[in-house]
Amino acid sequence: MDDVLAALDEHSDLDDLIAWCRIPSVSSDPSRATDVVHSAEHLASELRRHAPHRVEIWPTGGHPAVFAEWKGPVGSPTLLIYGHHDVQPEHPVAEWISPPFEPTVRNGRLYARGAVDDKGQVHLHVRAIAAFVRSRGSLPLHVKLLVEGEEEVGSKHLTELLASKQSELQADLVCVSDTSMFGPGVPSICVGLRGVFYAELHVEGPSTDLHSGSFGGALANPAHALAQMIASLHDDEGHVLVPGFYDDVRAPTPKEREEIAALPFNEAAWLRSTGASSAFGEVGYSTLERLWTRPTLDVCGLYGGHMGAGAKTILPSRVSAKISGRLVADQDPTVILRRLRAHLLAVAPAGVRTRVVDLHGGKPYLAPTGHPAYEAAKRALSKAFGAPAVFVREGASIPFVRTIADALGKPCLLLGFGQPDSNAHAPNEWLDVDSYHRGAKAAALFYNEVACQAAAIFQHAFER
Ligand code: BES
Ligand code: MN
Ligand code: MN
Repeated sequence: MDDVLAALDEHSDLDDLIAWCRIPSVSSDPSRATDVVHSAEHLASELRRHAPHRVEIWPTGGHPAVFAEWKGPVGSPTLLIYGHHDVQPEHPVAEWISPPFEPTVRNGRLYARGAVDDKGQVHLHVRAIAAFVRSRGSLPLHVKLLVEGEEEVGSKHLTELLASKQSELQADLVCVSDTSMFGPGVPSICVGLRGVFYAELHVEGPSTDLHSGSFGGALANPAHALAQMIASLHDDEGHVLVPGFYDDVRAPTPKEREEIAALPFNEAAWLRSTGASSAFGEVGYSTLERLWTRPTLDVCGLYGGHMGAGAKTILPSRVSAKISGRLVADQDPTVILRRLRAHLLAVAPAGVRTRVVDLHGGKPYLAPTGHPAYEAAKRALSKAFGAPAVFVREGASIPFVRTIADALGKPCLLLGFGQPDSNAHAPNEWLDVDSYHRGAKAAALFYNEVACQAAAIFQHAFER
């Protein structure tokens, strides 16, 4: 593999990533829809430089995805690599040291919206592919690349897309780079992702805002009703009180708890990085267990009534909350939302109308770590980083992972190269340039390992 690794050392390709990060492909903002298209086209034209068998832009009911394919030797396994080219909104812009869409390198970090989530991590695979093409003229296995444009808004059209492109997406293994390393220099394989659901709760009282002097005290106040409903969601020990919420939760095994406890987690540094005054969560679990193995329910936003400057004496007509939760195996977002809706309607006080609107959801994922690809990934990562790879989990969600793993009946390897404090979704998002280079080498080494382990990988599929 020295030839391929040397090709990676010769071409840093960082300028290509920088050009891509200039495009504000914010999927949640309708006024940026053309930028998301532009981002897809930009990636597609870059891929065309690396001798692919084919490159296509796949339209969806929303934002487009990019698909590309490289052929390997006849009989070699097929690896499907997934990532996303859409990004989160950049607000609040004033908090960025350099502008979010003017990528800037400072102290070995590339600062830009999308630098780590996920353009930089997609790009390191593009580099690994390009390095094989440059040094050998071809890849050691079949590679397919799917880069979607709606991950940050819940991958709304993904199920449809997967159904219509079933044969194009057939693979023996899936690889996603969209997660974090446990810490600097610690190569990490993520073996668990939480699922997610997202809903809006609307509470309506009088048909318009009313004078609180003329009407206050004689009508139910929707803001009070909303507060009561939200207060009914948790007890004082951080447990969720929605009936049935924990029914399908698979408890971590004693061995899993031991493995999590053995990781060198610096709780004090973690707390400092948040700026919060103390940790809080479900009684009976450590911070990492709370983040990786327990489901949650969070109010993400509250709005309604008088939100402007100064005082305004009103009884608000309507108020709302954005409520989301993180789910663990084997919880199902549809079932959880149904239980949450039933609970909210049951506790809603008289005198208001309550509506719960479903925004999106995704299932949790637990990796089949007995599959030979996990040992292959460990070898590749350890070699690239010069340190042993660890298994971690992630509290966040990537809806595609469980969807594709179920559809193909194949494992999805989460080889993440972000840093835990990389400010994904926040101001000053950054990518560690060294991890980007090592990540590209790890990806190349991983493709090679998978090609060499083809027999074991086919055999495993056959035995299951
Ligand atoms: N790449 C993230 C998931 C992630 C975040 C991994 C932090 C590791 C550390 C992904 O793009 C993401 O933000 N997912 C969303 C999914 C949601 C919009 C359905 C999430 O977790 O909120
Ligand atoms: Mn991401
Ligand atoms: Mn994200």
